[in-house]
Amino acid sequence: MSFAWTVLVVVFLLPGAYCFSRDEFPSHFVFGASTSAYQVEGAADKDGRKPSIWDTFSHAGNGNMYQGNGDIASDQYHKYKEDVQLMANMGLDAYRFSISWSRLIPDGKGPVNPKGLQYYNNVINELISHGIQPHVTLHHWDLPQTLEDEYGGWVNRSIVKDFTAYVDVCFKEFGDRVKYWTTVNEGNVYAMFGYDIGILPPQRCSPSFIANCSKGNSSTEPYLAAHHMLLAHASAARLYRTKYKSMQHGFIGFNILAFGYVPITNTSGDIIAAQRARDFMMGWFLNPLTFGDYPDIMKRNVGSRLPSFTKKESNLVKGSIDFLGINFYYSFYVKNKPDKQHIEDRDYRADMEVETIDLIPNDTSIYEVPITTWILQDVLDSVKNDYGDFPIYIHENGQKTFSNSSLDDWSRVKYLHEYIGSMANALRSGSNVKGYFVWSLLDSFEILGGYEISYGLYYVDMKDPNLKRQPKLSAEWYANFLKGKPMDP
Ligand code: NOJ
Repeated sequence: MSFAWTVLVVVFLLPGAYCFSRDEFPSHFVFGASTSAYQVEGAADKDGRKPSIWDTFSHAGNGNMYQGNGDIASDQYHKYKEDVQLMANMGLDAYRFSISWSRLIPDGKGPVNPKGLQYYNNVINELISHGIQPHVTLHHWDLPQTLEDEYGGWVNRSIVKDFTAYVDVCFKEFGDRVKYWTTVNEGNVYAMFGYDIGILPPQRCSPSFIANCSKGNSSTEPYLAAHHMLLAHASAARLYRTKYKSMQHGFIGFNILAFGYVPITNTSGDIIAAQRARDFMMGWFLNPLTFGDYPDIMKRNVGSRLPSFTKKESNLVKGSIDFLGINFYYSFYVKNKPDKQHIEDRDYRADMEVETIDLIPNDTSIYEVPITTWILQDVLDSVKNDYGDFPIYIHENGQKTFSNSSLDDWSRVKYLHEYIGSMANALRSGSNVKGYFVWSLLDSFEILGGYEISYGLYYVDMKDPNLKRQPKLSAEWYANFLKGKPMDP
C-alpha cells in the first residue's frame, strides 16, 4: 500500500470513534510491539537449546487443536537484525520479547549456555543501537522440560528456587541494558489453560475435562501453580531489589490477561457475578501483589484448596511489582451461575460461579472491530480504584485474522485505532498507563491456532524458505501514527 493511499485511508475512512494523536501522549510514553521466544525464535534445537514444555506439547499433536510447532517459527533467531530494522523503520520506542529459559540454561538449572547468552546479548545490543528499549519477559510459559520431568514444574515449590537462579543470570548478564523486566506472562491464563482446562502445556487437568488430561487435578493445581508463580515472582523481585536495583535502576513487573466483564443484566446477582469474575481473573494475582493475600471471595469459594501465604510470604509478595503488565483482547457478558457441587469437588470454573457469553459472537470477532473498546478504559480505571495507582503497560493488544488474509488488514487498523483511542481517553482521565505494545510485531506460531491464525503487523510467508516479511496496512498505519502523521477524520 502506497503512502498516499495509507494517508487517504486513515484520514477519510477511519470511523474515528476516538480522536487522538501521538503528540498528546506524554513524552516518556512508549509504543512498541510484542513477541515471545517460542512463538518467533525457531532454531529450537540449535546451539545448545533444549526442549521446553512447548516443544513437547506441539510435537505431541496438542489435542488436534492445530498443526505445527515452533521449530522454525519466524526464525527470529537468525533474523533478529532484520526484525530490529523493521521496528526501527516503524519508529517503535520499545520491543517486548521473552527469553527462552531452556536456550539460556538448557536443563533449567546448572550451566549457562554461552550461545544462548550470546544470542540475547546480540538482540539487546541491536535494539539499543537502534534506540529501541528492550522490555524483557523472563517466562512466557516455555518451562524447560527437564524441570517438568524432574518435579512437575510449577506445581512444585522447587520451581521458586530454580526460577530465582535463572533470573539471577538474566539480571547479571543483561541488566546493565535491560530496565524493564516482567517475571511471568499472563500468570492467570497459564494457570487456567495449563492446569484447569489443560489445553496448553503442561496440559494438566482432571481427566473429566479432556481426554488428554491423564494427569493433573483441576480442583487444586491451577491454584497451586499460580501460588508458586506469585512466590517465584516475589523472590525474583526481592533478588533484583537487594542485589541489582541500586546499580541497574530497573523495574520489575508481573503480567496478567484482563478481560472486560459486563453484567448481562442490571440485577444485583449479575453485577456481583461480574465483580466475582474480575476477582477470580485479576484479583487472583493483583490482590496478593497489592495486599499480600487472595481476594475474600476466592477464600470463600475455594476453601482449603486455595493455598495460603505465611506472614513472611505475604510480606514478600505484597508490593513486589513496580509496574503491572496487562494484556487485553476480549470482553464478555457475565451471568450469575451458582454452583451446587460440594466445595471440595469443584474446579476453578465452578468456583467462579459465573457463565461468560461472548460480547461479540466468536465467529465474527475474528474480523469485526469490537464495538466495546471503551472497556479497556473501564479495566484501567477499575485496576486503579481496586488496587492502586501503579504504572501500567499494555503489554499486548491486537487483532487475530486468518493467516491467508490480505496485506490490507483494514480491520486490524480499526482495531488498533479504537483501542489506542480508548487508552488515550483513560490517560486523559488520569490513568497511569506508561506504554502500549501491539501483539504482535510479526506473524508467528500462535498459541491457539498455530500458523492458521495471525496477529502480525508484518506478514511472514511461512512457505517461503527465507520467511520473507512484508508490511501489512496495519504496520504502515502504526508507523504513520508514531511519526505523528494525520490519522483522524
Ligand atoms: C496471549 C499470549 O501472551 C500470546 O502468547 C498469544 O499469542 C496472544 N495472547 C494471542 O493469543
